[in-house]
Amino acid sequence: MKGLNYFLCYGVVMLMGAGITSSAAMAAGSNADPAQQIPVPPIVEQSCGACHGSDGNSIVPAFPKLAAQVSQYTEKQLQDFVSGARIGPIMTGIAQALSDAQIQELAQYFSQQVNKNTAQPDTQLLAQGEKIYRGGVVATKVPACAACHGPTAIGLPPLYPGLAGQNAAYIESQLLAFRSNNRSNDLRAVMREIAGNLTTQESKAVAAYLGSLP
Ligand code: HEC
Ligand code: HEC
Repeated sequence: MKGLNYFLCYGVVMLMGAGITSSAAMAAGSNADPAQQIPVPPIVEQSCGACHGSDGNSIVPAFPKLAAQVSQYTEKQLQDFVSGARIGPIMTGIAQALSDAQIQELAQYFSQQVNKNTAQPDTQLLAQGEKIYRGGVVATKVPACAACHGPTAIGLPPLYPGLAGQNAAYIESQLLAFRSNNRSNDLRAVMREIAGNLTTQESKAVAAYLGSLP
């Protein structure tokens, strides 16, 4: 109970903080960053923010960034954690505690945040990664990722998630999860088939390239 009170107080303080920031941003006029004017939902401060960052820029490489993500994609992932279509030891319980309305609000909130990329990519892998992203791998029939995820990798609503500036370690982990069937919530197994034809080294290269994008 003490913990809960602490979280609630913390949420209120953070909300007040956000209020001050947004009026300051408004006073600053048209140069203000629009993302800063959106109040942080209390649940982000109480839960999501600890792992994903309150603005969706997760610092831990294994945790996905949610900032600027296609909102319908985020909503689908949360619903997939709820139904069990996507297995996630950490996320299942968290998602199951959310209402449909909260899921929608959170997906909307994170889609409006700016992805602040501070990655220091493995530069040796970038050229190979870019080649795979733009042209696929002809020999193993891997299609160009850009065809679905977009030429600048910011995603294509409603189905295709943005990958630009995502944590490279997280991207790599998802490619390996699709390849091994540990993640199987992709419609028509599209990603399982593609990732199944990428080698571990190719997965690493394309993840490094995507992680380096603004
Ligand atoms: C204790 C850490 C932790 C907390 C708290 C947490 N998450 Fe997560 N989240 C993760 C991890 C780790 C993953 C990657 C899941 C996997 O490996 O399958 C993830 C994955 C996700 C994904 C999928 C992202 C993608 O690109 O597919 C979404 C969406 C998400 N979380 C939203 C949330 C929301 C919303 C909250 C708050 C209600 C939240 N998370 C709280 C750790 C956390
Ligand atoms: C035919 C369309 C298509 C192509 C081509 C494609 N993808 Fe995907 N990708 C998808 C869809 C759809 C999803 C979302 C799956 C879901 O709903 O969970 C996805 C999801 C992903 C994810 C998970 C993102 C996250 O936040 O968890 C990664 C990583 C990914 N794709 C990487 C790639 C890479 C790398 C390539 C190229 C080698 C590629 N994709 C090519 C359709 C495609």
